[in-house]
Amino acid sequence: MKVMVGVSGGIAAYKAAEVVRALQRQALEVRVVMTESAQQFVQPLTFAALTGHKVITNLWPQTGESELSTDSMDSSIEHIAEAQWADALVVAPATANILAKFAHGMADDFLTTMYLATTAPVLVAPAMNVNMWEHPATQANLETLKQRGVRVIEPGSGQLACGMVGPGRLAEPEFIANAVLNALGRSHDLAGEVVLITAGGTREALDPVRFLGNRSSGKMGYALAEAAQSRGAKVILVSAPSALYPPAHCELVKVTTADEMRAAVLSRMSEATLVIKSAAVADYRPSIVADQKLKRTGPMTVELLPTEDILAEVVRRRKPGQLIVGFAAETENQLENGRAKLLRKGVDAIVVNDVSRPGVGFDSDRNGATFLTASTAIDLPEMPKRTMADRILDEVVGLRRPQSLLVELSGMESDAANIVDSQSEPFDSGIQPPISTRRQIMIE
Ligand SMILES: Cc1cc2nc3c(=O)[nH]c(=O)nc-3n(C[C@H](O)[C@H](O)[C@H](O)COP(=O)(O)O)c2cc1C
Repeated sequence: MKVMVGVSGGIAAYKAAEVVRALQRQALEVRVVMTESAQQFVQPLTFAALTGHKVITNLWPQTGESELSTDSMDSSIEHIAEAQWADALVVAPATANILAKFAHGMADDFLTTMYLATTAPVLVAPAMNVNMWEHPATQANLETLKQRGVRVIEPGSGQLACGMVGPGRLAEPEFIANAVLNALGRSHDLAGEVVLITAGGTREALDPVRFLGNRSSGKMGYALAEAAQSRGAKVILVSAPSALYPPAHCELVKVTTADEMRAAVLSRMSEATLVIKSAAVADYRPSIVADQKLKRTGPMTVELLPTEDILAEVVRRRKPGQLIVGFAAETENQLENGRAKLLRKGVDAIVVNDVSRPGVGFDSDRNGATFLTASTAIDLPEMPKRTMADRILDEVVGLRRPQSLLVELSGMESDAANIVDSQSEPFDSGIQPPISTRRQIMIE
């Protein structure tokens, strides 16, 4: 979805870059329009670099520019095109001046003209000196805008840039991004849920400087963490080494080895209402870890021992109502293999990654998969991982809907211990199944 960010000319204009980034983290396409005053505070280039689009700075063509130049965003008809392009307009920061102009229908620059031309939801995040904020004129303008359906993202209280204390601070960028998501209809359908997500590829030491690892970047798991959080969940992200920054406000538990991941997951899983195991966990570790760096002395044989099967333990320890979603990497017969594993392992759903296709999967920003349950196979064609994260969560939320009656059967025999985590599937370690586990069967 596409969001136009209006930046007006207050001291908080520099924070608009954080707002843009927070929106981009939600997989929204962002463009920026700046008022003339805003350009006194921040260079348009900053936003152009962030968004990859020329920043709109003027209603009129600049000297020497053709009005009809397709290269120019400064065309006098552009406000109509942009008004139609945007699924939402958010002004952050919104000055007292821009609120007054919006309230009175003035249209003397690009932002104010676009405001009148758009039928998309409009949000304003005011930021100003406390006296300006409390002035009856500003409050009356806000009231007018609210009555017309403009959503006001209330400023926070505290020390203001002008040195005074009180309301007037721009709301936090993440908060603004969430308000935009709500306006776009992305609901907080995971509010009240605690989601435990594993991500990244574990590392098993060979010696003090070397390890056995895999190509997982953690991108899918981190995207899931961000998506779950933006839908209102509390997120515990158990992450093997990854170069990524975790989403703000999610609890990050850093681990390195499969054993550490197992300990972290088992110690936190009782808090979770939903467990998503997207990490690529090693199936084997070297039986001996050398104390000193190994020297090249000719051919070498390394003995490998199987690691513990984390997902099997998670399924064994599941609480009533806890949903468990696994990931699997398949290179052939995705549906048959995926469905067989799902039933054998007793998880609620498996996301089967097609790792045979180039350009998707490991270390890529894109993924293609199938979301498998006992009775359904939903194709998730190639798309950005952040978009896929939301699609996966859409399906997970669907599992909680009342039309799907979940019957829990106790004491059924299953081979849940054969469940292996995510991409490590093809290297199944052949551990024998337990004789007593619980399995959920979905009756549509
Ligand atoms: C240093 C400085 C800081 C300002 N900070 C704010 C502010 O935080 N909020 C605000 O509403 N106006 C602020 N103003 C006033 C606006 O810049 C002024 O009202 C301007 O006309 C706003 O234009 P615009 O709404 O078209 O961006 C500030 C002015 C200056 C010179």
